[in-house]
This record gives sequence, C-alpha cells and structure tokens, in this order.
Amino acid sequence: MKVDVLLGLQWGDEGKGKVVDVLTPKYDVITRFQGGPNAGHTLEFNNIKHVLHTIPSGIFRENKINIIGNGVVIDPVVFKNEIESLNKIGFDISKNLFISKKAHLILPTHRLLDAASEQKKGETKIGSTLKGIGPAYKDKIGREGLRVGDLKFNFEEKYSLRVENHKIMLKELFKYDFEKAFNEYEKDWFEGIKVLKSFQIIDSEYMLNQLLSENKTILAEGAQGTLLDIDFGSYPFVTSSNTICAGACTGLGIAPQKIGNVYGIFKAYCTRVGMGPFPTELQNETGDKLRKAGYEYGSTTGRPRRCGWLDMVALKYSVMINGVTELIMMKTDVLDQLETIKICVGYEINGETVNKFPYELNGAVTPIYVELPGWQTDLTKIRHQNEFPEELNNYINFIEDEMGIPVTVVSVGPNREQTIILEK
Ligand code: GDP
Ligand code: IMO
Ligand code: MG
Repeated sequence: MKVDVLLGLQWGDEGKGKVVDVLTPKYDVITRFQGGPNAGHTLEFNNIKHVLHTIPSGIFRENKINIIGNGVVIDPVVFKNEIESLNKIGFDISKNLFISKKAHLILPTHRLLDAASEQKKGETKIGSTLKGIGPAYKDKIGREGLRVGDLKFNFEEKYSLRVENHKIMLKELFKYDFEKAFNEYEKDWFEGIKVLKSFQIIDSEYMLNQLLSENKTILAEGAQGTLLDIDFGSYPFVTSSNTICAGACTGLGIAPQKIGNVYGIFKAYCTRVGMGPFPTELQNETGDKLRKAGYEYGSTTGRPRRCGWLDMVALKYSVMINGVTELIMMKTDVLDQLETIKICVGYEINGETVNKFPYELNGAVTPIYVELPGWQTDLTKIRHQNEFPEELNNYINFIEDEMGIPVTVVSVGPNREQTIILEK
C-alpha cells in the first residue's frame, strides 16, 4: 500500500478541504503533514459549512482515522476552538483523532513575534496570517521548539525558558508592546493545552507505517500551496514549511517510495492572499467579478483574495516539483458568466519569452495569454460530464494537452455533490 497525497498547486485556498472530504470514503486514514492554523479548509454538506484549521478534513466521515502529523505546528487555542465548534454541531472526534508527539507547539509569544515582525517590516511585510507560523517553524529549525510530546516532562520549566527569551526579543528587538495581549492569550493557551492533552498523543510515524503494512489506505492532506513552499515558492513571500509532496515524507515519516498518487488541485483561475508577486493578477473589473463570483475572501483571516487568470507556467512548475499524477480543477463555476477566458502560457521578461518559473517574479514579468471562449452556462447543477458544454471540454483539453496529465475531477460548487469525477 502507498500513501496518496493531495496538495495545492497555486497560492493556497484551491479547495483542498472540499476534495479531501469528497475523497475520504475511499480512504481509511486522513493525515495533515505540514502547516498549522494558517490553513483554512472549508467543507460544505447538508447545509453545514465548516472551516478546519488544524484538524484533517476527513473528520466528518464515520470510522476514519485522522492524524495530525509531526510536520504540523499546533496552536492549542485554535485547536480547542475547533474541537468546541465540532462538538457544538454534534461531532465527537476524540476517538478518531490522533496527534503526533513530534508536532511542534505555537507558543503565545510566537503569535506576538509574528505580529511584531510584520509591523517592523512595514511596506515589505509578508502579509502573514499572524498565527505565529514563521516564528514557530524558526524555533523548530533553530532547535528551540517545544513539541506536543514535551507536555509530559517538566513542561512548565521548558515553556518559561522559551517564553522569557521571546519576551526579551519582543521588548529589545521589536520594541513591541505585548504584555496585555500576552497575558490574555496565555490563559487561553493553557486551557487549550488541557484539551490537547485529552487526545491520543502518539508516535505517528510508527502508527502510519503500521497502518500501511496492514494494507490500510492513507490520504495525506496538504495545506497552503506549492507557490507558498519555503524552498520553491515565491520567496520570501511564502509560508515556513514544505508544502510540496516531499513535505509529506518528512512531515509524516513516510519513505519516498511509499508515495502513490499525487492529486494536484488548482482553481480554474488563480488567487493569492497576502503580499508578493502574482503575474496574472487582474486589478480591474474582471478581477472584482471573479472575487464576487468565487466569494474570494480568506477562510482564516477574512481578507479579500487577489484574483487573476490561470497561469500555466506556474502550474507546470508545480506539477514538476510534486510529481502530480492527476489534476483536480476547482471552482470551475466561477467562470460561468465570462464571454472569454484567458490562460497564461508564457512570460515575457525583457523582450524574451520564458516558460520557466523565474527566480524572481517581479514587475518585469508580462504574461502571454491565449484566449478561449467561455461557456456562459450555469455549471452548478451539472452532475455528469456528458452535460458539459463544448467550451468547457475545450478548456479542460487545453489544460491536459499543456500539462500532459489528466484532469480527473471537476468541481462546480462548494457542496460535496457539486463534484464531477471524469471518466477517462
Ligand atoms: P482550501 O484552503 O484549499 O481548503 O480552500 P478554502 O476552503 O480556503 O477556499 C476554497 C473556497 O471555495 C471555500 O469557500 C469553498 O467552500 C469554496 N469552493 C470549493 N470548491 C468550490 C467550487 O467548485 N465552486 C465554488 N463556487 N466554490 C468552491
Ligand atoms: P490553505 O491551507 C492561502 C499565506 C499568507 C501569507 C503567506 C505567509 O487554506 O490553502 P503565514 O501565516 O503562513 O506565515 O503566511 O502565506 N498563506 C495562505 N494563503 N491559503 C493558506 O492556507 C495560507 N496559509 C498561509 O496569506 O501570504
Ligand atoms: Mg484555505
């Protein structure tokens, strides 16, 4: 048995949560391998809309094992809130959720350091989600992090040592006024720790490999997207983890030869939230139309998402880095009204045509577009590919020809039912 991986090919928010929930019946285990509460994964079914931040999106299906892997960073406050809102709608997940001992904790001071660092950067800020992701991963790599497994031994002592150091940084380096916010958050944080400790804390690398040897099927759920990857994204406007397929190996303790299918998810257009380059961005009426039709506002921060055309240069790069085997096209219905749709097939940089994702994506990049006719049909009620308008088939064929891999799923709305599996 192998682990299938599902991940975003753009700048996040491609619709990973929805598709994981749709695919979960095929799997025994769903597991997150990186990121933390910067993620916001939305699921909709039976008139319930739910946003998950730390918990895998398989949690709403019965009798599935959900694992938070070692590569994830956990904020106990966000975790507790997630558990409470699941309990409120009648989901008790205490038996189905397992947490890696080696997952790192986001401390109250990590959030403040995130805010202080962004404030200090001013104009050049990343536009982070302010969830403490960067500082928590910094401490992990700097070998100063605290892990979930540390909750068992001398935790308060280790905690105080880290937090005191952080406070010195906040005071001396950032001149950041943190006392009030810290005191408030720390109280909630320790409440969250109590909730976290009530869950099954495990050696997830052993559990996952054991499950594989028992022929159980496993789906690894990515967070963020390839263009936000710490190594291969639009650095420095990225997140602080490896969002790519290789991240599933390090973030779970799974050997590379045990990776099976790689589902690459992309929107039929493109969005980005936060700062950083975005060659196909539409800062005009069409961009506003896409935002409105796709309700493009951040699931975690509520910020309006920047919108633009589908970028095949970036998509090919993401497919290459991840070894994508199947493409899943999301939010296709958002393009329903458009007379024509553009796709970027190359970049012009200093008078030359470039087909590679460049080291620096700055203002000098001009996208080269092809224009395809729109379908101007309401796709949201369509349930089978036989009903697809010809223009949509052309759009899909164009993408498949360019990418050299099949589009196997087309999503036409936020609900579970609005998902069309293509027969190939
Ligand atoms: P994720 O972070 O990749 O899980 O994506 P988000 O949940 O942050 O953002 C995707 C948004 O699009 C959510 O509000 C989903 O409910 C919604 N969504 C997902 N698939 C579709 C689709 O096919 N059509 C439309 N209109 N909305 C969708
Ligand atoms: P999901 O899993 C979209 C972006 C932030 C910012 C940059 C760094 O829902 O697709 P961070 O807080 O990670 O230090 O922010 O990354 N970002 C996301 N954008 N979707 C996400 O997650 C994101 N997680 C982080 O907006 O630009
Ligand atoms: Mg999201």
